[in-house]
Amino acid sequence: MLAWWQKAVFYQIYPRSFADRNGDGIGDLAGIIEHLDYLKDLGIDAIWLSPHYPSPQFDCGYDISDYENVAPEYGTLDEFKRFLDEAHRRDIRVILDLVLNHTSHLHPWFIESRSSRDNPKRDWYIWRDGKDGGPPNNWYSIFGGSAWEYDPTTGQYYYHFFLKEQPDLNWRNPKVKEAMFNVVRFWLNMGVDGFRLDAVGTIFEDPDFRDHRSRFTQADLYKALLAIRGEEKGRAAYLQEKTGEMFRYQRDLPEVHDLMQELRAVVDEFPDRVLVGEADDIAYYGDGTNELHLVFNFPLMRTDRLTPAWVRANQQDRLSALPPGAWPCNTLSNHDSPRIISHFGDGEHDAEWARICLALMLTLKGTPFLYYGEEIGMTNLPLEDIGQFRDTLGIRAYHTLIQELGMSPTEALAIANEVGRDKCRTPMQWASAPNAGFSPAGVQTWLPVNPNYAQGVNVADQTEDPNSLLSFYRHLLAVRRRTPALIDGDYVPLHEDAEDYLAFLRRSEASGQSCLIVLNMSDRPQKLDFDKNGRAARLIFSSRDRPTSEDPLSALPIGPFEVYIGELIG
Ligand code: GLC
Repeated sequence: MLAWWQKAVFYQIYPRSFADRNGDGIGDLAGIIEHLDYLKDLGIDAIWLSPHYPSPQFDCGYDISDYENVAPEYGTLDEFKRFLDEAHRRDIRVILDLVLNHTSHLHPWFIESRSSRDNPKRDWYIWRDGKDGGPPNNWYSIFGGSAWEYDPTTGQYYYHFFLKEQPDLNWRNPKVKEAMFNVVRFWLNMGVDGFRLDAVGTIFEDPDFRDHRSRFTQADLYKALLAIRGEEKGRAAYLQEKTGEMFRYQRDLPEVHDLMQELRAVVDEFPDRVLVGEADDIAYYGDGTNELHLVFNFPLMRTDRLTPAWVRANQQDRLSALPPGAWPCNTLSNHDSPRIISHFGDGEHDAEWARICLALMLTLKGTPFLYYGEEIGMTNLPLEDIGQFRDTLGIRAYHTLIQELGMSPTEALAIANEVGRDKCRTPMQWASAPNAGFSPAGVQTWLPVNPNYAQGVNVADQTEDPNSLLSFYRHLLAVRRRTPALIDGDYVPLHEDAEDYLAFLRRSEASGQSCLIVLNMSDRPQKLDFDKNGRAARLIFSSRDRPTSEDPLSALPIGPFEVYIGELIG
């Protein structure tokens, strides 16, 4: 028997950008509640809610100043409970974002910690003396510059892997663990169904604070980004490799595994909850039963081009690396990544690529995570003026590029848009009304609305249109729900040399059903031979009008960019 989270399709909501009910230009819980029927109708099973906690918003909510409350701009704790109840009433589960690595610098714990060297909370964060008139060592923050910030009140430095407004907690202090586990219990007692764990790998750092040997700087990283722009090499994979060198002593220490095991034990005190890890290391599945239930398959999305060969290699690596009993988890976008169409589209067949991407998510083995707005084909919105940026990452990149690399503001803006994440966090496009129906007309929204809402990229227009992307999402989500092999079937790659299309079987032992999936990732029609023994496939789903509902497997015609799902018969 599979657990609910193995069968579920998750949908990520970025609360600031989903629906603004009270007309202040910022999304809120009341807005989400109002659209729960929409989500039910779309066919998703669970929501991952990005941080909804009080926050000064230096990192768009990932800098939390109170872990047991709701940001006032989003609503109240009572409203949160209403949201949870309303979601549950519709059989939609809710997982929250849990940020363990750091708090906001305005969290009362840090305010106390920085107040004096002998404050009881001093050791809740990581404080060190400087060295040779500078920071304690040469560690970088992944968001740029030194990972150490000097605090004149006490004459020491504190450590922050992310922004200086996000001081790292000291997880070697048992009091920190106790306080955070209480947070976990607080929400689980309220009835939330689990957590997406933020930045798992960075929770511990080298206890000896050894210097890195690598002298690779943030500016070097931007330079590298420029140099490989437009090349097929896989920018993200390259950056991954480089940052691996830069952060050797700051990430993925063995202690994280002990902590994940303890956290799992806490979560297991409650029935039926799930932990999903934002982690690069598949090792956070533990032995398959004792750490995280799911770890995002990020390598799949770390390419500039999705090709059949890329997906096959990814599945081969990922599935064979999973410990026994562990369940895969796939995604192609989130609040830190480009929008799917902007990332994987080719400019010519974007509508087709959007469909291929969804089909991939819903037919590969594992739990899929979708990102709000992808169902209507929302695209990146590059911002035109640095004053519009809200993501500190983009703002910092802009200034670094101008000050350290002597770049022109226009060039720097282009890169800041690439590095920054505002582009994929713009307001949800509900209708072709002003402000896309996200906020009332005339209200200034927290990030600009993508003007393409007026060209059909909105929910209302697409609801009416049976050929829209939204209708495709609804249809395919419904197909997945009623096709057991797509949920519990194993994955068997076929035609492993094919360059144009991805073909595989999903075979379900429990139901006896086997499905053939063919995703044609090219504009060339195919005539495919999967069987010499006269077997046939009955059509379950196709993105094209097919003349027949049954085809011999020895001569299966597949159209350009077709998504084909057939059940094996005979
Ligand atoms: C995770 C979040 C990202 C955030 C960072 C620091 O990577 O997904 O948005 O900036 O952690 O909390």
